[in-house]
Formats: sequence, structure tokens, C-alpha cells
Amino acid sequence: MKESAPLRIPLIAGNWKMFKTAAEARETVGQLIQLTADIKNKNIDIMIAPPFTSLAAVAELIQDSGIDLGAQNLHWAKEGAFTGEISAAMLVDAGCKFVIVGHSERRQYFGETDDTVNRKLQAASLAGLIPVLCVGETETQRDEKKTFSVLDKQIENGLKELNFDAQHPLVVAYEPVWAIGTGKTATPDQVQEVHFYLRQRIEKIMGNVLAKATRILYGGSVKPDNVKELMVLPDVDGALVGGASLQAGSFSKIIHF
Ligand code: 13P
Repeated sequence: MKESAPLRIPLIAGNWKMFKTAAEARETVGQLIQLTADIKNKNIDIMIAPPFTSLAAVAELIQDSGIDLGAQNLHWAKEGAFTGEISAAMLVDAGCKFVIVGHSERRQYFGETDDTVNRKLQAASLAGLIPVLCVGETETQRDEKKTFSVLDKQIENGLKELNFDAQHPLVVAYEPVWAIGTGKTATPDQVQEVHFYLRQRIEKIMGNVLAKATRILYGGSVKPDNVKELMVLPDVDGALVGGASLQAGSFSKIIHF
């Protein structure tokens, strides 16, 4: 039977990192709901990933708003003696639909490897969460012309022995490390080149239908004034926004690209 690939609905996602108390999160989300009321039910997905401590507060506010909840990390085990960790089932229970996996800050500061990323992706998808797999090269790796070999490794090892079906695909985020929080956005040519490449790699590993269904987001200094030139690129299906997602005003402008 021929499987038809679902349309890639744009996804604009906010990664709040370690910012905002629950009260601050409530305030920002309340403003965002008002500012994005006009696009409810339109063909765009919006996700916010606050810190764990604000998940419950945000989950309560976003009901019926068209905004989805995401977490920034998870542990791969179902449960157990893992002090300080959070399981996929706990995230589902807290109202999450998405979970960010393998963000470069986790790789850089918390020893996350392609192997732990792989286990986390597996746990997330088994629990019914949509994982957002982050990949990207450092500035030195780009200067040394290693961008594509770095991405190959992250994608191949990260997705090893995983199965996603095209109705429930994962999301991939290309976040060049040198563009995160630096104000240096990758140029549209650099972004399209990498996204096209990533889709080809995904096709090789998981087949054409899944590659077409996988949304590939760009992340790294996305702002209201550069989002449009990125979103028009054929292989850019959304944005993973850090700093500019912390204020409802700027995040709403990005959502309205
Ligand atoms: P900035 O948008 O602050 O560069 O952060 C990007 C990011 O890391 C999103 O996950």
C-alpha cells in the first residue's frame, strides 16, 4: 500500500533553557496566548519548552490555546534510582507532547553523547512523545570543513536502530553551535545546504516517506528580523528559538513570520 507523507506543518518552538520561575512563565505564556490568538487553528504548530518546574503551570494555561508543551530533556529509563532525572512517562503525565533531545548545551556541559541521545530518542518515542533531535557543528569543526562528517555521526548514531513511522515522525533541529546565543545566524545558503543534506541522510537511514515527513528546524540566533528569510527555504520547516522566545512580543513576531 502506498503511504502518503503528511504535510510538514511549520513548527516554531521556544526553548526557554534555564530561565523563568513558574510565575514568570505564566506571565509570558498568558501574553503569548493573547498575541497568537489570531493564528489558532491555522497551519502552524507552536511549542514552548520551559524548565521542568514550570511544565505544570504552562500546561494548565495552554489548554485549548493551540500551543503545545515540550520538555528540554529526559532520562531513557522507565523509572529507577536516578536522582534528579525525569522519565518520558513523567513528561507525558505533565502534559508534554514534545521533548528536546541532545541539545548542544547538554552535549557540551552535561556529557551527553550520541549513545545517550539514541537511548533518549527511543524512550521518548515509545512513550508517544515527539522528540526534537538537535544536531550541529562547532565553529572549529566548520572551519576545518568537518560540518558534514560531524552531522553524519550525530544523525547516524543518534538514530541507530530506531523506527519512526511517517504518521509519527521525529523532528530534527539543526543548531550550529557557533550561532547559538551569539547573534551570528547561519546564512540562508548555509542553512539550506545543511537541511537538504540532513534530509538526504534521514532518507538513507529511514526511507523516503519518513524523510519527507520529518520537520527540520533551524536554531541559532533566530530573531523577528531574520526568521522570514529562513522560513522561505525549501528544507526549513520551522525554528527552534532560544533568547527571542523568552519575551512574548518577540516570539509572537517570529510565529507570525
Ligand atoms: P538562541 O536563539 O538564543 O541563539 O538559542 C538557540 C537555541 O539553542 C535553541 O535551542
